[in-house]
Amino acid sequence: MASAEQIKALLKSYIDDDESHFFSVAMQVAAHEARLGHGKLADELRQLIDVAKARRSSGSSFSNKPIPISQPRGELAGLLEVSYPKFRLNHMILEETVVERLNRVIREQRNLAKIQEYGLAPRRKILLVGPPGTGKTMTASVLAGELGLPLFQVRLDAVLTKYMGETAAKLRQIFDAITATRGIYFFDECDAIGSQRGLSNDVGEIRRVLNSFLQMLEQDQSQSVIIAASNHAEILDYALFRRFDDVIEYGLPNQEQIILTLQSRLITFKLDTIRWEFLAEVADGLSYVEIVRATEDAIKDSIIHDRNTISEEEIAKVLRERKAVRIGKFSSL
Ligand SMILES: Nc1ncnc2c1ncn2[C@@H]1O[C@H](COP(=O)(O)OP(=O)(O)O)[C@@H](O)[C@H]1O
Ligand SMILES: [Mg+2]
Repeated sequence: MASAEQIKALLKSYIDDDESHFFSVAMQVAAHEARLGHGKLADELRQLIDVAKARRSSGSSFSNKPIPISQPRGELAGLLEVSYPKFRLNHMILEETVVERLNRVIREQRNLAKIQEYGLAPRRKILLVGPPGTGKTMTASVLAGELGLPLFQVRLDAVLTKYMGETAAKLRQIFDAITATRGIYFFDECDAIGSQRGLSNDVGEIRRVLNSFLQMLEQDQSQSVIIAASNHAEILDYALFRRFDDVIEYGLPNQEQIILTLQSRLITFKLDTIRWEFLAEVADGLSYVEIVRATEDAIKDSIIHDRNTISEEEIAKVLRERKAVRIGKFSSL
């Protein structure tokens, strides 16, 4: 039997995502069993380790994580949130032009070495703009999923402090991490940088924070992909636009996209006869996320009431409810 220390070491290396240590402890356990005369068990363990290692080198890991990296530690842990999304581009419903531009980023990233051999730089600083609920955050996940890279979400609320010096130092730490660990780094709601929120009221200070961000963005020569997103392109500083390799615009779904969104969510349900064009008209003006939530409401209702079908009228009702929420929200502003 493996010693308590070995079991602890195995667990610890798993928790720390330290794969090489995990394998080395596992080999020690196998060697230990062999010494005790448990040859069969030792062989079985070695075989399991070999299989895991082989799978690892072929790209799929035992922990299902694309790259063995450690979690951000210390102060960085509060500034970056790491995840390993599995989304693919075909999970999204987008304008053909947007798909093409995202595919170009993916292609250039997949051919990083080749492009760099010729002294060229792949696209890696991308700004996504458009109304809420149109897929900007999801796009960051999709790029991570398509490229098999970890997604690091920058916690801007933690970065932006009252003190300019602190904020600049935190941004520095993030850009150091961007260089140290290849990944997708996502600055959501980047309009918060350089706006009043959470910062001092001193306009000069606000400007300095924006400037230091712009400078770090410009100087960054890493292998990571930097994605920034904003629901408020109109208030973004023009200087920000110039620092990105590409600016991609997201919009509310058109009729066809509304129908695809509805169908993608309702596909597993038995539906009555449905006039999709009629529903697309009802949903006109709603964002993707609002349509998704509405369909989920309809599905939940039907589950709760033990009905096994969903009718057109039920879907229209939840869509109208979503619109009412939206109007309610605006009228209270
Ligand atoms: N273009 C899209 N295609 C498919 N689903 C979408 C799309 N946009 C949004 N969604 C759905 O809405 C959710 C929220 O979208 P999100 O990416 O957070 O929007 P944003 O960041 O633009 O506000 C997603 O998780 C997804 O379920
Ligand atoms: Mg978002």
